[in-house]
Amino acid sequence: MKIRWIFFFFTLLLLLLLFGSAEQMPVHSHRFNSSRLLVLPLKIQDIPSKQLPFTHNVTLTVSLSVGTPPQNVSMVLDTGSELSWLQCNTTRMSQPVFQPARSMSYSPVACSSPTCTIRTQDFSIPASCDSKNLCHAILSYADASSSEGTLSTDSFIIAGSNFSGTIFGCMDSGFSSNPDEDSKTTGLMGMNRGSLSFVSQMEFKRFSYCISGSDFPGILLFGDSNFTWLVPLNYTPLIQISTPLPYFNRVAYTVQLEGIKVSDKPLQLPKYVFEPDHTGAGQTMVDSGTQFTFLLGPAYTALRNEFLNQTTNVLRVFEDPNFVFQGAFDLCFRVPSNSTSLPQIPSVSLLFHGAEITVSGQQLLYRVPGEMRDNDSIHCFTFGNSDLLGIEAYIIGHHHQQNVWMEFDLENSRIGVASVRCDEEGQRFGVHH
Ligand SMILES: *[C@@H]1O[C@H](CO)[C@@H](O)[C@H](O)[C@H]1NC(C)=O
Ligand SMILES: *[C@@H]1O[C@H](CO)[C@@H](O)[C@H](O)[C@H]1NC(C)=O
Ligand SMILES: *[C@@H]1O[C@H](CO)[C@@H](O)[C@H](O)[C@H]1NC(C)=O
Ligand SMILES: *[C@@H]1O[C@H](CO)[C@@H](O)[C@H](O)[C@H]1NC(C)=O
Ligand SMILES: *[C@@H]1O[C@H](CO)[C@@H](O)[C@H](O)[C@H]1NC(C)=O
Ligand SMILES: *[C@@H]1O[C@H](CO)[C@@H](O)[C@H](O)[C@H]1NC(C)=O
Ligand SMILES: *[C@@H]1O[C@H](CO)[C@@H](O)[C@H](O)[C@H]1NC(C)=O
Ligand SMILES: *[C@@H]1O[C@H](CO)[C@@H](O)[C@H](O)[C@H]1NC(C)=O
Repeated sequence: MKIRWIFFFFTLLLLLLLFGSAEQMPVHSHRFNSSRLLVLPLKIQDIPSKQLPFTHNVTLTVSLSVGTPPQNVSMVLDTGSELSWLQCNTTRMSQPVFQPARSMSYSPVACSSPTCTIRTQDFSIPASCDSKNLCHAILSYADASSSEGTLSTDSFIIAGSNFSGTIFGCMDSGFSSNPDEDSKTTGLMGMNRGSLSFVSQMEFKRFSYCISGSDFPGILLFGDSNFTWLVPLNYTPLIQISTPLPYFNRVAYTVQLEGIKVSDKPLQLPKYVFEPDHTGAGQTMVDSGTQFTFLLGPAYTALRNEFLNQTTNVLRVFEDPNFVFQGAFDLCFRVPSNSTSLPQIPSVSLLFHGAEITVSGQQLLYRVPGEMRDNDSIHCFTFGNSDLLGIEAYIIGHHHQQNVWMEFDLENSRIGVASVRCDEEGQRFGVHH
């Protein structure tokens, strides 16, 4: 099934624990000074979100502050969406919300403003006027739910820099009514290449993140600085197309996947399997807002078969045709719960034009919480089948970006990657537990 709003799948409303705290540094400037490097801790947070069809209960969050005087907020980092938003419904004060009434620098966007007519892929319909002539924004999600609010501006303070007049959605409705589920973040930071995204508004030429697999936070860096002294990066170009195609998301970070290897063995697949077709379906997007990785059917099936082939002697397949984890992960294994570690398994490498990401060990298998068969726990392969969800794209999720330095070089239209230990890199930049 080809559905246009598949891209919104990856920007689910996952609201998490307001865990971190915003930086309280002296505020330096009102405009971004390109020589300055802004560093924020990047945390992995859990949230059970069983209601959504496309659940990922782990997200990346950053803490910052918004408004005058500054209010601490925690936002999900999402390279797959455009408009940033904050939860602004103050009748829900049991949860972290941004209180616009308490900010002197807050200002709702009037619907007569040109900002209100900017087209973004996030709006399901063009923004409209509400009864107060304010710009009304509706964000749509994959499960057909939506969130509504007012397009607004306020000052965002990131690591001591003041970005005044930042456009975001101040959302009133659309949050789950289950209090356990909602809750824990104040909003989402849209980081794609659309004109309203955070990076576009700030005019950052480059940003980087490093997701730590450990309890130590990773880091998010904004700025033009050249970090090649840190680690040599391998670059892969961002794919851009000039003509709009129905299934091609032009504001996503699209890279060219060229192959997949299991240990050293490349899957025998023709190149076109990885290339977008004439409708634009089949692009490969790097998405920090999605947990796991999704491959289109032919690539998924080839990977599944090869991984099975190479693990027949070490892993016991969980044979239950009715069990498909999160609707897309149909390759699962039974692991004795008394075993202290997983057996040695082959790595999986994603080969991009000019760069590769290798996933190994524990990162390849995800223990499904709460699932036991006899004395075995259930572990699923962390690559899913896009076809099972009706997604027309390859999505590289954040789980497979752990311990990879990811640089989004907008100026040169490329993504740089390198294997590193992100907890150590975080400490180098002064980010602590
Ligand atoms: C915001 O975070 C800072 C830094 O951690 C903390 O000192 C301050 O108390 C927090 N403010 C509020 C209102 O929670
Ligand atoms: C995901 O949610 C489940 C509950 O649904 C929870 O047990 C688990 O700890 C969460 N996090 C991860 C990483 O699975
Ligand atoms: C950020 O800049 C805006 C606009 O200049 C100003 O009104 C606000 O007070 C500043 N915020 C802080 C915390 O300095
Ligand atoms: C705020 O949330 C409450 C509770 O979910 C809801 O009843 C109310 O309509 C929301 N307010 C607005 C302005 O949407
Ligand atoms: C970054 O710095 C390195 C070494 O200082 C230099 O070789 C490289 O050309 C620089 N790259 C960019 C994009 O400025
Ligand atoms: C794995 O693949 C090889 C070569 O393709 C084949 O000879 C072998 O029988 C396969 N093993 C299993 C267990 O499927
Ligand atoms: C785990 O339990 C099984 C029987 O349930 C036993 O055969 C196996 O030796 C045990 N393994 C460990 C590491 O204790
Ligand atoms: C599960 O493990 C317990 C304790 O080791 C053992 O008594 C029991 O027989 C095992 N059950 C199965 C179904 O293997």
